[in-house]
Amino acid sequence: SRSIRLAVVPGDGIGPEVVAEGLKVLEAVAPAHDLKFEQTAYDLGAARWHRTGETLPDSVLAELRDQDVILLGAIGDPTVPSGTLERGLLLRARFELDHYVNLRPVKLFPGVATPLAGVTPDDIDMIVVREGTESLYAGTGGVLRKGTPHEIATQESVNTAHGVERVIRYAFEVAANRPRRKLTLVHKDNVLTYAGELYQRILKQVGAEFPQVGTDYVHVDAATMFFVTQPQRFDVVVTDNLFGDIITDIGAAIAGGIGLAASGNLNPSGAAPSMFEPVHGSAPDIAGQAKADPTATILSVAMLLDHVGAPAAARAVEAAVAADLTERAGLGARATSQIGDAIAKRVAG
Ligand code: IPM
Ligand code: MN
Repeated sequence: SRSIRLAVVPGDGIGPEVVAEGLKVLEAVAPAHDLKFEQTAYDLGAARWHRTGETLPDSVLAELRDQDVILLGAIGDPTVPSGTLERGLLLRARFELDHYVNLRPVKLFPGVATPLAGVTPDDIDMIVVREGTESLYAGTGGVLRKGTPHEIATQESVNTAHGVERVIRYAFEVAANRPRRKLTLVHKDNVLTYAGELYQRILKQVGAEFPQVGTDYVHVDAATMFFVTQPQRFDVVVTDNLFGDIITDIGAAIAGGIGLAASGNLNPSGAAPSMFEPVHGSAPDIAGQAKADPTATILSVAMLLDHVGAPAAARAVEAAVAADLTERAGLGARATSQIGDAIAKRVAG
């Protein structure tokens, strides 16, 4: 059987609880597809920071680089100053491993309740290709005259032709392989004239190589509205890092909630391992109560399987999740591990 080195970063809050269920399902599906995952767990997050002051040490980063793929739970804790773990661990991993595509499907499964009236699964089936290494997330800028009435805080949006080209190219490739073959650029080119113009220009350039893909453009503010009023409008969406962060939370909300939203931080070049994680955070308010929904992590495991070249295993996990979702409405509240058990059981046969 094929052996795959898997780094596991459970992280904070509900992270370890949902990751345990993701691994349960992975272990259940692997044998039938001749896969073997060699797991290494990494202790990263709030506890390590409290103990050692470290977020993502160079030595750990070097070990992560050596793995084939990474599964991450969630990062962040109210006892740690805001931004410390987000920047020092999660964004550092995304940037250092050059995860330039943050892939976030927005898909309504049958049987799942959406807050949108009169909407069926056919109406919500899109995939957001969020840029993962640039824009306002770059973290450059600074503070002048701190604490004075004349304080100035600047935060720069960095957008490179290289970075924009590669994410737009990836989005065209995704769109070319979907039945509707439609790619929508979401930005704010009427105000962010430099970055917006760069995205528009490169969309045109790369689009010339994909004549079969139709393109259009929607301002990000309008996109938030259309996600709610006309989700049918979208097939593949490409956007920058910050806009992608915001619209994928709306995407999660319309497709059944943050408990179901999966993502992959991809380095499509293969030069470093890709990292799969639920879109949700560490939810410290419900941590340790077995209330967290592991479905987003399990669907992230399906994306991981696709990424390692095991599409049949990925489809098997998705089918098991889909079947579980159709029965959920009739069941009472289930513990995190009960949901994982039910999906693992279906996937195993
Ligand atoms: C996400 C999260 C992260 C982001 C935070 C925790 C840094 O909101 O994955 O969407 O902003 O990208
Ligand atoms: Mn987010």
